[in-house]
Amino acid sequence: SNKQHFSNTLINWYHQNKRNLPWRNTTSAYHIWLSEIILQQTRVSQGLPYYQQFTEKFPTIQDLANAQEDEVMRTWQGLGYYSRARNLHKCAKIITENFLGKFPESYKELLKLPGIGPYTGAAIASFAFKEPVPAIDGNAYRVLSRVFGLDHDLSESKTFRKFFEASGQLIPDNNPDDYNQAIMEFGAMHCTPKNPNCQECPFISSCFAYENNQQHLLPVKTKK
Ligand code: ADE
Repeated sequence: SNKQHFSNTLINWYHQNKRNLPWRNTTSAYHIWLSEIILQQTRVSQGLPYYQQFTEKFPTIQDLANAQEDEVMRTWQGLGYYSRARNLHKCAKIITENFLGKFPESYKELLKLPGIGPYTGAAIASFAFKEPVPAIDGNAYRVLSRVFGLDHDLSESKTFRKFFEASGQLIPDNNPDDYNQAIMEFGAMHCTPKNPNCQECPFISSCFAYENNQQHLLPVKTKK
C-alpha cells in the first residue's frame, strides 16, 4: 500500500545513509533520554562531546541523580538553555526516587516528567520501548509536508496534532524506532530546508512538493 511504501522507502534510505551515532546503538532509556535532552536545541556535532562527557561522568541515572547540582551545571557549561540541565537533574532524581531508577515505558507516562514534551517522549518511547508513537520535530514537519503536500500552518497550535495523526498513520508497528530515526535523518541530511537533494530522492516520483515546485513553500510557516 501507499502507507507501507512511504515507511519502507524511508527506512531503506536510512539503512543506506544513516550516520553512526552512539545513541542509535543502545536501547537504554537513560542514554536515549540524555541524548535527546542534549540535542533539543543543539546540533549533533556540538552535542556529541557533551553526550560523551555525561555518559562517562554519570554512567547510570543514579549517578546523575546523586551528583551535586553544580557538577551537572559544569558538565552542561557551553550548551546554553540552562533550564534543560536543571530539568535533567530534577528528572534523574524523580526517576531514581519514585520509579526505582527505571523510566516509565509508555509515551503517556513519559510526558509527565520534567523536560519531556511530545517530541522527546515519542523519541524515548519508540527508541527504547518500541512504542509506535510518531516523533514530530522540525525535520518531520518538513518531510511530511513536502512529500504529502500537507499545508497546515506551523504557526497554529492545532498543527502539531495534524502532523502527529498523519505520521501516526504511517509509522509501522514492527519498526517504529527506525521510522522515527529515519524521518529525522532524512530531513536533516537530504530533504533540507534549502537546496534539498531532489534529484537523488527516493520519493522523486511521488513527492507533492517536487511535482508542484513547492519545496521552498513547505512547510508553511506564516509567522517566524
Ligand atoms: N536530533 C535529535 N534527536 C536526534 C537523533 N536521535 N538522531 C540524530 N539527531 C537528533
